[in-house]
Amino acid sequence: MGRLDGKHALITGGSSGIGLETARQFLAEGATVAITGRSQEKLDEAARQLEGPLLPIVSDAGDVPGQVALAARLQAEWPKLDILMSNAADVTHLPIEKWTEEAFDGIVATNLKAPFFLIKSLLPLFSQQSSVILVGSVSAFVGHENATVYGAAKAGLLSYARGLTYELKDRGIRVNGLSPGPTLTDVFKPLGAEAQAAIYDDLRKVVPLHRIGTAIEVAKAAVYLASDESAYTVGTVLRVDGGIGELAY
Ligand SMILES: NC(=O)c1ccc[n+]([C@@H]2O[C@H](COP(=O)([O-])OP(=O)(O)OC[C@H]3O[C@@H](n4cnc5c(N)ncnc54)[C@H](OP(=O)(O)O)[C@@H]3O)[C@@H](O)[C@H]2O)c1
Repeated sequence: MGRLDGKHALITGGSSGIGLETARQFLAEGATVAITGRSQEKLDEAARQLEGPLLPIVSDAGDVPGQVALAARLQAEWPKLDILMSNAADVTHLPIEKWTEEAFDGIVATNLKAPFFLIKSLLPLFSQQSSVILVGSVSAFVGHENATVYGAAKAGLLSYARGLTYELKDRGIRVNGLSPGPTLTDVFKPLGAEAQAAIYDDLRKVVPLHRIGTAIEVAKAAVYLASDESAYTVGTVLRVDGGIGELAY
């Protein structure tokens, strides 16, 4: 028996990294899974890698009308939704001089505004035993170079776990944050192999466990938060970060 048998799960940003690995784990535990991403090509590649009932949907997580449409599509296809993992993110890191209003609005739209309206739009579909998982970041807790705006948006997203728990608990919807630390994914790929290796070398020095986490480690925590095993866990943040968000280094 799977830990998520009979459950329907939506993962935004599910075509690579943590979202893709979580989709794999959810499917292995018996869930029916929808994944989103902006690139059809990446979704097709993810679908080739995954086994089980999967619904890949092109959707930009920063577009509010698009999130309303995504909720409507799921409502048309599925009887209910039990799990939402809001995982897609804009990870722009810049020094203050380089931020434009457009870039600021973009990161806030993807990491804070549109996820709120996605949850709102999904309310009629959520079952009375639902789990919402908000993927934050260690940058919500500690300062990092060029991460001022990213960290603020992630801190805001994680704060939804508290506010929305109050609002939604009587409907059977639990809301929690899941906060990864440095994790091996495609997130730094656009910077090139050399820069990527240098970043990971630096990070290994400052993570208390002195290694970079894996997407599987975050995905296993997501399975726990998604399943009824965590029925008494609400309004909190589970950190899977090698200690970097909490401990001195
Ligand atoms: N990796 C880390 O070290 C780390 C650390 C802390 C927190 N996190 C958080 O973990 C989450 C996953 O990151 P990751 O490292 O797994 O990233 P990743 O490997 O780069 O994967 C990101 C996924 O999100 C999708 N995506 C990006 N922007 C999107 C948008 N606007 N709308 C819809 N989908 C979008 C991407 O597909 P498309 O490009 O096709 O849209 C892809 O499927 C993010 O919330 C990130 O902030 C990661």
